[in-house]
Amino acid sequence: MIRSRLLKSVRLHLTLWYTAAMVVVLALYASAVFAFVQSSVSSGLDARLRAEFQWPAEMLDKLPDGTIAPYDETDNSTSPWLQVYSPEGKLLYQTMLARLTPVPQGEELAARADGKIVSIPDTTPPVRVLSGLARIGDQPVVIQVARSEAPMWQELTDLLLVLLLGLPLGVIAAGLGGFVLARRALAPVDRMAEHARLITAERLKDRLPVDNPDDELGRLATVFNETLTRLESSFERMRRFTLDASHELRTPLTAIRTVGEVGLRGRRDEIAYREIIGSMLEEADRLSQLVDRLLMLSRADSPQSNLSADNVDLCGLVRDVAAQLGVLAEEKQQSITLELAGNPRWTGDELVLRQAVLNLLDNAIKYTPAGGHIKVSLAETSAGVNVEVSDNGPGIPTELHSLIFDRFFRADEARTSGSGTGLGLSIAKWAVEVNGGQLTLEDSHGVGSTFRINLPQESLAAPAVASFR
Ligand SMILES: Nc1ncnc2c1ncn2[C@@H]1O[C@H](COP(=O)(O)OP(=O)(O)OP(=O)(O)O)[C@@H](O)[C@H]1O
Ligand SMILES: [Mg+2]
Repeated sequence: MIRSRLLKSVRLHLTLWYTAAMVVVLALYASAVFAFVQSSVSSGLDARLRAEFQWPAEMLDKLPDGTIAPYDETDNSTSPWLQVYSPEGKLLYQTMLARLTPVPQGEELAARADGKIVSIPDTTPPVRVLSGLARIGDQPVVIQVARSEAPMWQELTDLLLVLLLGLPLGVIAAGLGGFVLARRALAPVDRMAEHARLITAERLKDRLPVDNPDDELGRLATVFNETLTRLESSFERMRRFTLDASHELRTPLTAIRTVGEVGLRGRRDEIAYREIIGSMLEEADRLSQLVDRLLMLSRADSPQSNLSADNVDLCGLVRDVAAQLGVLAEEKQQSITLELAGNPRWTGDELVLRQAVLNLLDNAIKYTPAGGHIKVSLAETSAGVNVEVSDNGPGIPTELHSLIFDRFFRADEARTSGSGTGLGLSIAKWAVEVNGGQLTLEDSHGVGSTFRINLPQESLAAPAVASFR
């Protein structure tokens, strides 16, 4: 298991790549070094031969009997082979070394005497020979100098040996170094993985350690932590929503159950039973209203591709909503005034926007006491179209402004009245924002409340993404 993990690890792959690269680089470097040393040693030998070619003309003398002899014959192991021929090919002089070990192809090369250096590699030892014309005294001669290539090849073989031994050692050292480096560089990844494994739905508060936020791994950890933060808040919202939803669903269910149980205790007349059934139906209504809202919320969480792009007549929409809820206002002897300026058209999802206006007007009617005044105005401004719903009801305390759009939030009076689910404004906000607009509660300075929907011109054709709070 550990072995197969190691085989698949980035660390091993990095090390292998690094080692392979090192092998190529070191092999190229060793070849270049060898070629350079070979060429410089070889040309050194050539230069030496050429220098030694000059030497006999100064060190040899022509004796009166026509023979050639050195002033002082001191032959040693470092001396080259030296032979002097007459232009006709007669051997006039040779050093002791040349006498003992004849120069391979000596006569042939002397006959050519072209001043070129010839390498004869297949002899033992391999030799390098230079034969050329010269003069000793007044006599034209062919001088032939030669040297063994053995020391040169010995030197090159030693170098090759060092390189061949050094290469694998260098590769092993580089591989080990690469492995250690890769392990050190990737150690934070292991730590992050260990840490991430411990982060569960219950421990979403945990974050990955960030050693250096500016390097690649630090940035990865930061992005991961940001994702965790988003995940945590969405989990938190979901948890809160589930709790609130189950709580809200339980209230009408308990009411139905209690009313039913009380109704079954003892005998009652028809009117009493009707009353009991009536109040049970009321609670059932409330329950179905709540379920409708929850369905709406689930729609909000689904992708926004469900939205349509209708060409909406905003004045028509406001009139329709006012007419639809007018009955409720009449029941409470409230007046609804419409102030519609111009005839703006807007592109977006009409049904969703209608839901927003409907919820705002419904609230205005519900929370404004009997005989109150409600105004719905529509105006085009430089920032787009504004739809405002205002009333002269009790208003909403400033400290609640930040909470009013939260799911299931209801101000206390509303809660005690028992009506509503606390989802209306939350749905309205989503409906407006998903259409690219904004829903705000204006500061009404203690007189009633004013909700404003702003639909900016540029967003009218391009709905934006919005989510529930
Ligand atoms: N026009 C208003 N005047 C005074 N208070 C308001 C007004 N509109 C909303 N509120 C307050 O905001 C709270 C939240 O409103 P929201 O519409 O979200 O829920 P709801 O009306 O209680 O229930 P629902 O609309 O889901 O049936 C209300 O309970 C009420 O206290
Ligand atoms: Mg409402």
